[in-house]
Amino acid sequence: MDNKEQYKVRKEPFYQAQRNEVALYEAAYAARLPVMVKGPTGCGKSRFIEYMAWKLNKPLITVACNEDMTASDLVGRYLLDAGGTRWLDGPLTTAARIGAICYLDEVVEARQDTTVVIHPLTDHRRTLPLDKKGELIKAHPDFQLVISYNPGYQSLMKDLKQSTKQRFTAFEFDYPEASVEAGILSKEADIDPGLAGQLVKIGQAARNLKGHGLDEGISTRLLVYAATLIKGGVEPRDACRMALVRPITDDADIRDTLDHAIDTTFA
Ligand SMILES: Nc1ncnc2c1ncn2[C@@H]1O[C@H](COP(=O)(O)OP(=O)(O)OP(=O)(O)O)[C@@H](O)[C@H]1O
Ligand SMILES: [Mg+2]
Repeated sequence: MDNKEQYKVRKEPFYQAQRNEVALYEAAYAARLPVMVKGPTGCGKSRFIEYMAWKLNKPLITVACNEDMTASDLVGRYLLDAGGTRWLDGPLTTAARIGAICYLDEVVEARQDTTVVIHPLTDHRRTLPLDKKGELIKAHPDFQLVISYNPGYQSLMKDLKQSTKQRFTAFEFDYPEASVEAGILSKEADIDPGLAGQLVKIGQAARNLKGHGLDEGISTRLLVYAATLIKGGVEPRDACRMALVRPITDDADIRDTLDHAIDTTFA
């Protein structure tokens, strides 16, 4: 299998569109504009990009960014082995060479000196300088850069620079409206729509507590976890405590409030 095929998304991922984001992404890709996907954790950002890569039939290379990441982790480095030194492309370089969609997940986590390496790839130059190797890569015509981030979790210190932000078009995602979210749960975990609706109700109760003791409401991801546990035979109240409440709070009052909402829903 060549390098390109290995990164293709082989099976159609299930993605439930919320609005016209699929068409808008296609337009951005057609112009090879860089894309930013913002939104809270577990709301479908990664699933959307995976789906788009599948739909466009392009390879997808995903990089989970973290604060220890250096530019070399993205671009590549020389390795020492028995045969001497050997250059190894980083994921960004591979994506630029083979014409993949490169998805930098949680990009704000990376240090700013790491983020600037993407700049020449995101403007008219579409190039990537490999300083250590003395090579200038011209991005493959199919290459596109996508970044994601969760606004709100970051301190001001960790925000992206305007000169980075203003190289991207952006999608703002949020948890889907109730009927759409119930549809996602019932499809993802193969549960009946009535049960999916009950789980979504608990999710919405928790989202109303955001800012009142909760930093973030229950994500669609956690609702899928609860649905999956129930599908596997776990008693709904246990499944909800385990998947929806215990992960998101250490506060006894909030925990009791949410447990109570679960008991009422499944009374
Ligand atoms: N629109 C959607 N269509 C299908 N599944 C969805 C959708 N939104 C959320 N999901 C479900 O929620 C899960 C989490 O979504 P995803 O991994 O895309 O979150 P994310 O926004 O990338 O979160 P994070 O910021 O934590 O990485 C998916 O695995 C899927 O089960
Ligand atoms: Mg993600």
